[in-house]
Amino acid sequence: MGNLSESELRGRLQGVGQEHLVQFWGELDGGARAELSRQIAAVDFEQIANLFSQGAGGCDWAAMARRATPPPAMRLAERQRGGGKFSAADAKKRGVEALRAGKVGVLLVAGGQGSRLGFEHPKGMYEIGPTSKASLLQIHFEKALAAARRYGAAVPIYMMTSPVTHDEQTEFLREHKRFGLPEDDVVLFCQGTMPAVDAKSGKLLLADKGSLFLSPDGHGGTVAALAASGAIAHMRRRGIEHLFYLQVDNPLTPICDAEFIGYHLLANSELTSMAVPKQTPQDRVGVFAMIDGQMQVIEYSDLPEDVAAESEASGSLKFWAGSIAVHVFGVAFLERALALKNALPFHIARKKVPFVDASGSVVQPKEPNALKFERFIFDLLPHAKNPLVVEFEECEVFAPLKNAPGAERDTHEYVQRHIVEQHRRWLEAAGTRVAEGASVEISPLWALDAEGVASRADRPAGLNRDTYLRA
Ligand code: UTP
Repeated sequence: MGNLSESELRGRLQGVGQEHLVQFWGELDGGARAELSRQIAAVDFEQIANLFSQGAGGCDWAAMARRATPPPAMRLAERQRGGGKFSAADAKKRGVEALRAGKVGVLLVAGGQGSRLGFEHPKGMYEIGPTSKASLLQIHFEKALAAARRYGAAVPIYMMTSPVTHDEQTEFLREHKRFGLPEDDVVLFCQGTMPAVDAKSGKLLLADKGSLFLSPDGHGGTVAALAASGAIAHMRRRGIEHLFYLQVDNPLTPICDAEFIGYHLLANSELTSMAVPKQTPQDRVGVFAMIDGQMQVIEYSDLPEDVAAESEASGSLKFWAGSIAVHVFGVAFLERALALKNALPFHIARKKVPFVDASGSVVQPKEPNALKFERFIFDLLPHAKNPLVVEFEECEVFAPLKNAPGAERDTHEYVQRHIVEQHRRWLEAAGTRVAEGASVEISPLWALDAEGVASRADRPAGLNRDTYLRA
């Protein structure tokens, strides 16, 4: 829909009880009017009204959790002793074949606002490398490049941005020459937005007199954005059949892990997910579960305490499989999911949203005043054929940067400690002595993983002080 004239705009807004959005029209210049008109034209008011009336209600998760069963999974112990439905060696072989054939790409979502972290730029630009000060984006891009070098085939990155993070991340990648990736191996695509509404009245909020308060439509917005951007056509042109999905805030993600990709292929799965075992029933992480024959993630806030505490004969929690938002998607599945893009439900969150009130002043609410609407990528799970969960050790795959200093976990300090501990483990396992207290960091271009460290002929015999091993 193009720009609407003033009278069309007013008529449309009156019809849906949202005429306050043009209350300051007389104060706006031509450019601002055109922009506001464009924003309003893009809103599906019927959808917003439905979401508002539905409120936070919806599924009865407690009842669903009570009839849920554990997901089909490759448990870590099983993989390590060579048991289970698929052998680890076969999986690795299949994954390596797919990587060598250039069939694997990376889907990186980086459209979030990172509000908890309180960093003034897109989170991907955060300098997390303990010694190197490498940004999150540098670490992910270098891992994809290292995988491409190891397997002798390109690993393109499809990176989702949002209107709030697009320009800065595009410029950042240009400035850093995409951290070595060729131009055609990096595709940026921008996700959509959703307006926020007043929690009591359902009226859309104005961020200022000439614009709606809009925020990214959640990582589930990936599906619609992939369709609109031409990224899928790029995948088809490049022969990419499988996508390794990750979120920008987790620098430990084992990008393109061959064994993980291999299980996905051996199981003929459309969506394979990495999981880490919950340590206690109270861990604040969503769990994978089968509900009425479909895989779902039950969020921790929806899992009743008694169900969370249930255990198996082995002593393991029944719902052990914590989701860390690392998956492999079949591209054909994503194409099929495009037709389902409206089937992904919106989740509703109450948030504090500053807004312009009727007098034209900006109000900074002290309590949550607004509803925000987001789609979640894991809502694709119930639509996937042969979904599978693969268990990994948390310390090897998951340390996300979420919180500002002072929080119990997922802070800058927490993430750096996990990077250093992992790299120390890799070096020590390969025979390098690392002095107590030395902060060691490995560039993905020096070694991608433990195997990469072990295979380096120039690996140092000992490290006595803080070191960054780079190519
Ligand atoms: P989170 O849900 O943790 O959100 O996103 P966030 O924006 O990083 O942080 P908070 O909640 O505002 O503090 C998990 C991942 O999903 C991406 C983020 O960039 C991050 O990689 N994401 C989230 C999107 O790409 N788009 C969105 O609309 C939301």
